[in-house]
Amino acid sequence: MSIGCIGKSKVPKIKNKKGIKMSIIKSEQLYEGKAKKVFATNDPELVIVDYKDDATAFNGEKKGTIHDKGIVNNKMSNHIMKLLEKDGIPTHFVEEISDRETVVKKVTIVPLEVIVRNIIAGSLSKRVGQPEGVKLNSAIIEYCYKDDELGDPMVNEYHIAALNWATKQEVATIAEYSLKVNEFLLKLLKEVGVDLVDFKLEFGRTSNGTIILADEISPDTCRFWDSTTGEKLDKDRFRRNLGGEEEAYQEMFKRLGI
Ligand code: TMP
Ligand code: ASP
Repeated sequence: MSIGCIGKSKVPKIKNKKGIKMSIIKSEQLYEGKAKKVFATNDPELVIVDYKDDATAFNGEKKGTIHDKGIVNNKMSNHIMKLLEKDGIPTHFVEEISDRETVVKKVTIVPLEVIVRNIIAGSLSKRVGQPEGVKLNSAIIEYCYKDDELGDPMVNEYHIAALNWATKQEVATIAEYSLKVNEFLLKLLKEVGVDLVDFKLEFGRTSNGTIILADEISPDTCRFWDSTTGEKLDKDRFRRNLGGEEEAYQEMFKRLGI
């Protein structure tokens, strides 16, 4: 792939199915979520994600801004997805084109939030009545149906198959990739003095039905605790009104050497 430049954004040239190099041009907005906007491009297989500084919690009930969060999340997610690709996990990442914008593969999102946990925290702590910080014997995978109005209820493999959200084979692939992401991130973060408590992933289907990792991996979607002090370096600082969220996001950015 070669890169051209227009204004601040790099304009990637990507070979299409006929092997012809074409410039990727941002066109109309397709969608605006709580933390990102998605734009169409001149290639039907590609979209551009634009990360915002807007922060929400409790299914959008609490709203705020975390200065430069969009830059940290864009670059951190891209950094991690590039490493995951090398480790054999297919992702939506194609090319970062500015501080906040990335070209990604267009997918149909599987309507599930896949949560992986290593240490008890958050909703699991409440559900099982055990304190935050207790290390689990083995990683837990939880699935939640992605629907803010319903409060993203937890579901299991039977709901997922019976309600046609994903096939059994797709769920097996999603679980396999999620545990591989966990193993990869645990090691990467340990090297920079961070405990990976838990995180949320989303997956999508490409036009040919392949399951790939989509959405983002960032302090918005993970719990990161400093291995020595236990300090929270993620969005819980915003969710729990602890303050210092900008510094926490920047600290994670620095530690990962991005
Ligand atoms: P929980 O303990 O609140 O269920 O959160 C588990 C993980 O999922 C935690 O790392 C934060 C992440 N998460 C999201 O990415 N989006 C959400 O909407 C919620 C509730 C949690
Ligand atoms: N996804 C949540 C929301 O809907 C935010 C969170 O707790 O991460 O507002």
